[in-house]
Amino acid sequence: MQIVKVNNYEEMSEKAADLVTGLINQSKKSVLGLATGSTPEKLYDILVERNIRKEISFQQVKTFNLDEYVGLGENDLNSYRYYMNEKLFHKVDIEMENTYIPNGLATSLDKECERYEQEIQKAGTIDLQLLGLGLNGHIGFNEPGSSFNSRTHVTQLDQSTIEANARFFKTPEDVPTKVITMGIGTIMKAKQILLLVQGEKKAEILKKAIEGEVTEHIPASILQRHSNVTLITDISI
Ligand code: F6R
Repeated sequence: MQIVKVNNYEEMSEKAADLVTGLINQSKKSVLGLATGSTPEKLYDILVERNIRKEISFQQVKTFNLDEYVGLGENDLNSYRYYMNEKLFHKVDIEMENTYIPNGLATSLDKECERYEQEIQKAGTIDLQLLGLGLNGHIGFNEPGSSFNSRTHVTQLDQSTIEANARFFKTPEDVPTKVITMGIGTIMKAKQILLLVQGEKKAEILKKAIEGEVTEHIPASILQRHSNVTLITDISI
């Protein structure tokens, strides 16, 4: 694992943007795996600025997001489709049909998971998968105990994740309890992984994930077994 220590959130986001820019400029048809949440917000702002300045083009890029809430559609302010449209897709030159996010409103969620997994396979491989880290060690919404071999699937959020994500909703009761998430097996197939972790409150779990035992109780610990992971963090390890 390559660890890049930075001083703050801004620097982490700049460095992450440099990595994404380098990849896309080298291979215009890159396939990106994307994340939502607070961590990548600034990274997306920087990519938008660079796209406006024509330093980067998403015209031939494909994207696959990690996850979506079951029951929330694209017009719902809390859906991850809405988040991605607002923060990145509607602001850059990407073709919307090249942006993939699981459909949280699908009538058959199992079929939707299969379809999503097939779309990823059709795209070949994810060149760069962006990940944030949950306070409980989750990646995507693979909560503690998730199988390391899992593919895209429907799962229940942990109570701790519901509480952590309640900040985006009116009340904690409004947070959907079910999600569709790429599995850990899917994530591990990406050629390269970019893990962004910011803030002292994640220090303990980050240390366990990268230095501790590789265990399904700490889903992110599996990243120790991936051959090309870059961690950018302001936490001193
Ligand atoms: C988001 C995702 C989650 C978040 C994680 C950290 O698509 O899959 O794993 O990356 O919960 O969230 P933030 O960045 O809000 O701390």
